[in-house]
Amino acid sequence: MHTGQDIHDQRLLIVDFGSQYTQLIARRVREVGVYCEIHPFDAPEDFLRDFAPKGVILSGGPESTTEGHTPRIPDAVLAFGVPVLGICYGMQAMAAQLGGAVSASNVREFGHAVIHIEPGTELLQPVRDAQGSELSVWMSHGDKVTDVPAGFEVTAGTASAPVAAMEDRERGLYGVQFHPEVTHTHLGTDIIRHFARDLCGCEGLWNAANIVDEAVAHVRHLVGDEGVVLGLSGGVDSSVVAALLSRAIGDQLTCVFVDNGLLRKNEREEVAETFAPSNALNLNLVVVDAEEEFLDRLAGHEDPEAKRKIIGSTFIDVFDREAHRISGVKWLAQGTIYPDVIESAASKFGKAHVIKSHHNVGGLPERMHLKLIEPLRELFKDEVRQIGMHLGLPRQMVYRHPFPGPGLGVRILGAVRKEAAEVLREADAIFLEELHAANYYDRVSQAFAVYLPVKSVGVVGDARRYAEVIALRAVETTDFMTARWAHLPYELIERISNRIINEIEGVSRVVYDVSSKPPATIEWE
Ligand code: XMP
Repeated sequence: MHTGQDIHDQRLLIVDFGSQYTQLIARRVREVGVYCEIHPFDAPEDFLRDFAPKGVILSGGPESTTEGHTPRIPDAVLAFGVPVLGICYGMQAMAAQLGGAVSASNVREFGHAVIHIEPGTELLQPVRDAQGSELSVWMSHGDKVTDVPAGFEVTAGTASAPVAAMEDRERGLYGVQFHPEVTHTHLGTDIIRHFARDLCGCEGLWNAANIVDEAVAHVRHLVGDEGVVLGLSGGVDSSVVAALLSRAIGDQLTCVFVDNGLLRKNEREEVAETFAPSNALNLNLVVVDAEEEFLDRLAGHEDPEAKRKIIGSTFIDVFDREAHRISGVKWLAQGTIYPDVIESAASKFGKAHVIKSHHNVGGLPERMHLKLIEPLRELFKDEVRQIGMHLGLPRQMVYRHPFPGPGLGVRILGAVRKEAAEVLREADAIFLEELHAANYYDRVSQAFAVYLPVKSVGVVGDARRYAEVIALRAVETTDFMTARWAHLPYELIERISNRIINEIEGVSRVVYDVSSKPPATIEWE
């Protein structure tokens, strides 16, 4: 238990210049026990002043300070008087704005590099103590700082980037050309810990136990004795919201689980089991069997986007109807997490970001006239998982692969039929069972079977079989924006294929998808 102060009070600001690593910086800061938020470099200055951080990290970014009108460090940030760490572009912007020099280069340095750390550095001292003066780091830059501003010292260099790190200890300004946030940088997290905890003076209050305590108190205060309804999908986010709200407000929470007929095998039973009253989760669970309604509305529709729309709007209808049967409901809970918040904020400030609007069921709060409660709004996925474990959810639920809202509806290519869903459910279950048995489930990021409405000929026993094809897809990814097909062992694929063809009558052939994203997407539709 912490001392009762708000665990958000000691916080860092991450100024986003558009680097692909910005969220990684924030995750590392959280990992060392310090709360932080990401805000764009052009966020309003008074907003940043009110945020009152104990330290600031400037992210990298794709631009070059040597060209006119490139993103600048907000004046408010340099006026805070708190420690500032510039990473890559962040360091270059610091150099350019404070009177140093940056030179452009057409040659990108990308990959491992070894820096030589000078004695007497404040930022890198703990790493130098632990490791000696040579440190293996990750570089990804074109421009480089060629002259440090007055007051700064060069604290590390490489042959190709003489200023690999610089600092002005008097003013608490630090810069590194390399990326301490990526795991390829040896001891990178130690550098971030030293900055956040020691140099900025944050205590490390941000941990699963404290996050849960504070969220519980906050929810109780917000909701009072009013009722809350939550659409429980069985996925990580909504399950953690359910467990958290159950702890906070007990049976004032009603969870609605909609069986749309497009779920994986046993999914409904597993959710009912996990959230049964005997499991110390005190909540009301309503399970709605809506298979027929979904399949009727989907009948004859082949276009993926049309199918998504139908599944989304049917869900809203069913959920709305059920929620109205529960008395005293004033709140709708949703499992929005921090990356969703960052994405929509970034788009507000006009930056190029692809919004995956189809990933959320929009329109519910407006239609239902309910107040919205989003208890995971400030958490990254890994934090959601940690508090899920802390709340006692089963590991296999907390660490399960993502499953799309439209479910098997976008994995049965073309028209969705009940028989196809049944075949696919069985094939998918065999695939996942074998992955678990071979210890591969946790080594891939997402794995599933796809039903191809293409008939092919096979021979089973003495009989000719003319039936559909199952495709297997397994990918490795960290962000789901890009992905590599998983190089599963041939023996494992062979075992899965044999079982699927032998055990399921409606399948004549199994194929393995060897497409990366891009250009292919993870789902087939
Ligand atoms: P794609 O196919 O776009 O998938 O490469 C990236 C990730 O998003 C998931 N996905 C969805 N999730 N509703 C969802 O809730 C959807 O309509 C949807 N489409 C794709 C996909 O499973 C993968 O994890």
